Amino acid sequence: MKEKIFYVCAGCGYQSIRWLGKCPNCGEWNSFTEEFKTKQKYIPSKLITPKKIDEITDEQVIRTETGIGELDRVLGGGLVKGSLILLAGEPGVGKSTLLLSAAGKLAEKNKTVLYVSGEESLSQIKIRSKRLSISSSIYLLSTTEMPSIKESLNKMKPDLIIIDSIQAVFDPEVPTVIGSVTQIRENTNFFMNFAKKTDIPVILIGHITKEGLIAGPKIMEHIVDVVLYFEGDVRSNLRILRSTKNRFGSTTEIGVFSMEETGLKEIPEASSIFLLNFQKTLPGAVIFPAQEGTRTIFVEIQSLVTPTYYGIPKRSVIGPSFNRVSLVLAVLEKKLHFNFGTYDVYVNAGGGLKIEEPGCDLPIAISCVSSLKEIPPIEESIYMGEIALTGEIRPISQINLRLKEAERIGFKKAIVPKANLKEIKNCSLKIFSANWLKEVIEISLKI
Ligand code: TYD
Ligand code: MG
Repeated sequence: MKEKIFYVCAGCGYQSIRWLGKCPNCGEWNSFTEEFKTKQKYIPSKLITPKKIDEITDEQVIRTETGIGELDRVLGGGLVKGSLILLAGEPGVGKSTLLLSAAGKLAEKNKTVLYVSGEESLSQIKIRSKRLSISSSIYLLSTTEMPSIKESLNKMKPDLIIIDSIQAVFDPEVPTVIGSVTQIRENTNFFMNFAKKTDIPVILIGHITKEGLIAGPKIMEHIVDVVLYFEGDVRSNLRILRSTKNRFGSTTEIGVFSMEETGLKEIPEASSIFLLNFQKTLPGAVIFPAQEGTRTIFVEIQSLVTPTYYGIPKRSVIGPSFNRVSLVLAVLEKKLHFNFGTYDVYVNAGGGLKIEEPGCDLPIAISCVSSLKEIPPIEESIYMGEIALTGEIRPISQINLRLKEAERIGFKKAIVPKANLKEIKNCSLKIFSANWLKEVIEISLKI
């Protein structure tokens, strides 16, 4: 077999015959790794003919609950037979802890779980399981070699397999180095075929780097059935589990945990976890009721607007999307004549919660102007609404769920898009509605 060397971007899978410092496809730096191209023999599978759709019987999706409610919620009700799941996250966020706990819970229900660790020794895992008070029996295998994993899989028929991590396992038959794109892709394909053939669910742990470059997992995303991300600032103890792809369910639900001395604690009542003290208002701090699936989570949008002293004004965003913040600032400049051009703008969501919803535009806008003018927003209030390029406020989804939860937590006022007003039912909060961003700034900040 003739081997040919080529280079692959670990971020997006782009291939090049020369090594490149920057990927022309995704723009990532230093992401190219050396790979070998080996001519593979084509083995024809048995012939399959097309089938009419009405001749196919639809099997019910069978799910097994892991016993960790927050994980089951994100999975859409539990593990689906024969599914391949990727759990991605930064090192140290708690991936191994989460899955070892899930393995413990399943083993308590007399399920056989095989936990393969390529990163820790058996005694290290034993120490961790003691810390997590796992008394049930999980089968552990400490190896990085695919042949020994395959041998164990031939011998036993577990109910769940966990591979910790996909970057650590290595198949000598795939002629590239450990952790390379080809190794990861080939091994992921093996587990995919295995899961489909045997109906055994498999969870693969995948590490990602701080910048979000997923050395490997990015190219696995389209192979696997479910992609879960475990996020959180490693210095704080709050952890969020979310799904970006799920072939068997929705991707809207999130799981909330807190990392404690004795493992991950679930936080099912998560709505006010990101709030410190909402009775007191400060310039730059505005509360947004984020809707995460069926749950409302209140998050404080904090802005700091300070004069720029060195050249180009700085923009720094943690939590909301950078593009939404840029758009909101552009509308404030062009339509309402606030001048941010000589100011640095920092926008954070409390707890670093990622927010993709455009309904967060209005809280971002009020927060920025509030910090610029040093005027606090309305006290005990929540703000929501998407901002159009014209400065108009667009409606948001599921407003009643958000308002109901706000009432329960003790908020007194809500600033909402006028277009949502008709659908609001039985709400004891004082409602201010507006069609234009200008009106909200006038009501809130008296300017
Ligand atoms: P770990 O699950 O090893 O992270 P990952 O597999 O994503 O790399 O978790 C690592 C961190 O979690 C580690 O710094 C210690 C902390 N930790 C706790 O705070 N409490 C616990 O009970 C455990 C097991 C870990
Ligand atoms: Mg780990």
